[in-house]
Amino acid sequence: MPQPANSIWAPSTDGMALAVSRLRSGELVGFPTETVYGLGADAANERAVVKIFALKKRPANHPVIVHLALAADIERWARRVPPAARLLIEKFAPGPLTLILPKSEHVPDVVTGGQKNVGIRFPSHPVAQRLLREFKGGVAAPSANRFGRVSPTTAQHVADEFGDEVPMVLDGGPCQIGIESTIVDFTRGAAVLLRHGAIATAELAEVLGYTPLPATRRSPRVSGTLESHYAPKTETRLVKPFEIAAAIRTATMSGRKVGVLARIAVRPGDFDGMWRQAGPEWSLYARALYAELRLLDAAGVDLIVIEEPPAAVDWLAINDRLHRATHQKGVLKTRTRSGGRRP
Ligand code: TXA
Ligand code: MG
Repeated sequence: MPQPANSIWAPSTDGMALAVSRLRSGELVGFPTETVYGLGADAANERAVVKIFALKKRPANHPVIVHLALAADIERWARRVPPAARLLIEKFAPGPLTLILPKSEHVPDVVTGGQKNVGIRFPSHPVAQRLLREFKGGVAAPSANRFGRVSPTTAQHVADEFGDEVPMVLDGGPCQIGIESTIVDFTRGAAVLLRHGAIATAELAEVLGYTPLPATRRSPRVSGTLESHYAPKTETRLVKPFEIAAAIRTATMSGRKVGVLARIAVRPGDFDGMWRQAGPEWSLYARALYAELRLLDAAGVDLIVIEEPPAAVDWLAINDRLHRATHQKGVLKTRTRSGGRRP
């Protein structure tokens, strides 16, 4: 349900000044980053951060990332920054990287979901950089979507998601990267990779001198690693390229309307439903992915069929999102066209 765009502000002097003053007075502001749009609040203001959780309907024990303009600001928020974390900052900040570090006393508990560690990131998007510099503080921000849903990559997505509940979104255009930051945990000795993102494991390994360890069950809570996340409301299935035609046929024969997100597959001649083509190469695909999922979700189809990308290293971060987007929480989730649910 598209909302009137009166909440969307160009990052002109006026828009930026209003965003800064809203943050200062404890209000929420949607803002662009190079990965996805964030829902920001003054990270030092507990009551402001609580509003993020309420609006997203996010469980209180899921921590939010603190966004900072400059690497030099890190000392205020992290109690200790190990040399290996500094190496990653030198190489990748500002950019799509989040570091988990022991939190300083300055960080309110609500930001970290009661954990002793804080997630810190330096976004490179020029609008995010300007906002953080002019605000002169840390901005706590998760992705600007309801808990478990598809992340937003345009200002309009944020407005669609929250309507008037977020009175202001700064418009920085479509996000360049399109999927969330790579998260590396430095609180357990060797670096642990908590979430795959645009910075590849091999790039991290090159700087660290070793491959970061994979996350385990005992790793800190990362909601993006829940089995069901990034999920459209419509039933969504991941299908091998050569199975797409059969998946469409089966669903269509039982009277269901199908939408397809293809990568390189060619539309079957007899299929006249919604057919979207994401890029053949991972970075183009990442940029398009969430916008395409939102489009398909809003199209009133009963089933979204996604062409499974290759099981190659380059596609790890995307395959991770796609598996979570298509995980059905153990419940058969079939929506009829009228929006009702079949058992
Ligand atoms: O690219 C991104 O990281 C975007 C943009 C807006 O910066 N943000 C984002 O935030 O994806 P969110 O909240 O949707 O996902 C961040 C993940 C969450 O799953 C959260 O649990 C985890 O980071 N996280 C944040 N602080 C943490 C901490 N102290 N320890 C462990 N995980 C943490
Ligand atoms: Mg998120």
